[in-house]
Amino acid sequence: MQTFPIQKIVEHGPGVKSFYFEQTFEALPGQFVNLWIPGVDEKPFSISCEQNGLTEISVKAYGPFTQELMKKKVGERLGLRGPFGHGFSLKENSLLIGGGIGIAPLRRLAQELSDLGMRFVSLLGAATEHELIFKSHFQEISTCYFYTDDGSFGEKGLVTEHLLQIIQDEKIEYIYAAGPEIMFVKVKELIDPLSIPYEFCMERYMKCGIGICGQCVLDDSGVRLCVEGPVLNQDDLKGVTELGKVHRNATGRRE
Ligand SMILES: Cc1cc2nc3c(=O)[nH]c(=O)nc-3n(C[C@H](O)[C@H](O)[C@H](O)COP(=O)(O)OP(=O)(O)OC[C@H]3O[C@@H](n4cnc5c(N)ncnc54)[C@H](O)[C@@H]3O)c2cc1C
Ligand code: FES
Repeated sequence: MQTFPIQKIVEHGPGVKSFYFEQTFEALPGQFVNLWIPGVDEKPFSISCEQNGLTEISVKAYGPFTQELMKKKVGERLGLRGPFGHGFSLKENSLLIGGGIGIAPLRRLAQELSDLGMRFVSLLGAATEHELIFKSHFQEISTCYFYTDDGSFGEKGLVTEHLLQIIQDEKIEYIYAAGPEIMFVKVKELIDPLSIPYEFCMERYMKCGIGICGQCVLDDSGVRLCVEGPVLNQDDLKGVTELGKVHRNATGRRE
């Protein structure tokens, strides 16, 4: 674990911020780093961008750790270790489906696809406009469909609202998704009959981040999300019975 001073902070809206560090990890899109707040804890975060020698991490405030992170100022030192996990593959004619802070790992993926000249379409949703982070960036490099729960930007509703129509109209051959697990369940239900291959960037409570502690294992597959994931494809997910149903809490208990 090395510590780095925060170089810059960008506030996307209340409780949603990006933190920049002068260090790169040469991470693949979808890989994550563990971020340590000295005296508090260490938690996993996707890399939303690596550019010009800076790594960006985008965070939504939930509980104690992320609330503490929101108080940090430029110049304060935080620990980073990684990159960890298995990232996204890169496919042509793809659809990137992002929900809420799940948009963060998709930003890095979108940049990589764009740099390689690969066609993709973005379908992004969030509770409200300020949580639709990086929307102008996605608009610059792809065709976009936006949804918000409150109708403050794009269409009012969920990303799954017109999913099948968008897949058909845009001639989509591959799907990437990152967001709340309930979104994966719905997306999976809709696309399984179409046999379109997909990858989901998932989250579980993690501790070691390197496959040792067993905290992030998915039942019944035995997949360790921090090593074989966090990006899993349709084959990886075949044996997973807990999707959208249960997960392990901080103590390792299923809830
Ligand atoms: C691979 C991966 C990438 C992630 N990327 C991002 C990101 O880019 N931006 C972002 O805002 N959040 C990201 N998260 C989630 C982030 O780690 C949790 O939001 C954060 O740990 C919440 O902690 P808390 O103490 O603020 O809230 P808590 O009240 O402790 O938890 C809020 C929610 O986060 C889950 N959670 C808590 N701790 C962990 C943990 N150590 N590992 C996984 N889930 C946890 C809890 O189950 C709960 O559902 C990612 C998680 C994983 C596993
Ligand atoms: S977090 Fe320890 S095995 Fe994945």
